Amino acid sequence: MFQFIRNLLNQKGFNAKAKRAFTNYYRFARESKSYLSYCNKMHGIECFMQNNLSKKQFEALTAHFKPNMKVLDIGCGTGDLTEYFAKNYKLKAKGMDLVESKFKYKEANFETTWLGENEYDLVISLDGFYMLNDLYRTLNKVMDSLKPKGKFVLTYTSERPFEKSRLGKALKKRKHDVKDFTQDDKVFNNKAKDLLEEMKSSFIEEGNSSLFHTKYNEIKKNVDSHQNGKMYRSLVTIYK
Ligand SMILES: C[S@@+](CC[C@H](N)C(=O)[O-])C[C@H]1O[C@@H](n2cnc3c(N)ncnc32)[C@H](O)[C@@H]1O
Repeated sequence: MFQFIRNLLNQKGFNAKAKRAFTNYYRFARESKSYLSYCNKMHGIECFMQNNLSKKQFEALTAHFKPNMKVLDIGCGTGDLTEYFAKNYKLKAKGMDLVESKFKYKEANFETTWLGENEYDLVISLDGFYMLNDLYRTLNKVMDSLKPKGKFVLTYTSERPFEKSRLGKALKKRKHDVKDFTQDDKVFNNKAKDLLEEMKSSFIEEGNSSLFHTKYNEIKKNVDSHQNGKMYRSLVTIYK
């Protein structure tokens, strides 16, 4: 059912298939009680999300939130987490994703859609800022959408140390800081793998074996990459 989510690894495949693949995936994942229970145990809140935000990363991200801030979440997925942030941190939040959201966040490609100018205090992207056709142009657009003291905060996973990654290189001339969460991410993924193995029967009993395998393969790949020293995890803050 979800085989084609694995075809998103190159830009051409992503452009052609991402919307359909994510829409189809979320349709099952969002309705799954087992997946919600997995989120609760791994991320510490009862909210659907499709990211690898550990509790420590969650705290580092939410430390940027202040009441009434205007926030844009690009690549917000189903929007459940954006909505959770809006309610619990009293943000004026908007989201944007290729997929339709029940929260009426904008269904659009953030690379090709106008994001506004001097509009947001904060733009966030949680595991959604990877398959970009034009990284420099998109980054400029995001930074233009920020108010003068605005920030763009994103989680980023790379095969090489951040400064040698695509985004790290693109940020050479921009004021930014990077919090390294590589070790934390290794612990997170190992724990996620153990938890999924424990929960396998519960996924299968609710008829979600494809969902289980898709999630398990993603986490297993991360565990292997960490073991081989080929995975770096960062929380990046870019200042306007
Ligand atoms: C790994 S999911 C993360 C979803 C969400 N941020 C979360 O934490 O649950 C990545 C999301 O980014 C979205 N995405 C990636 N590139 C995008 C683009 N150029 N425009 C809009 N959405 C994009 C995908 O559709 C997908 O829903």
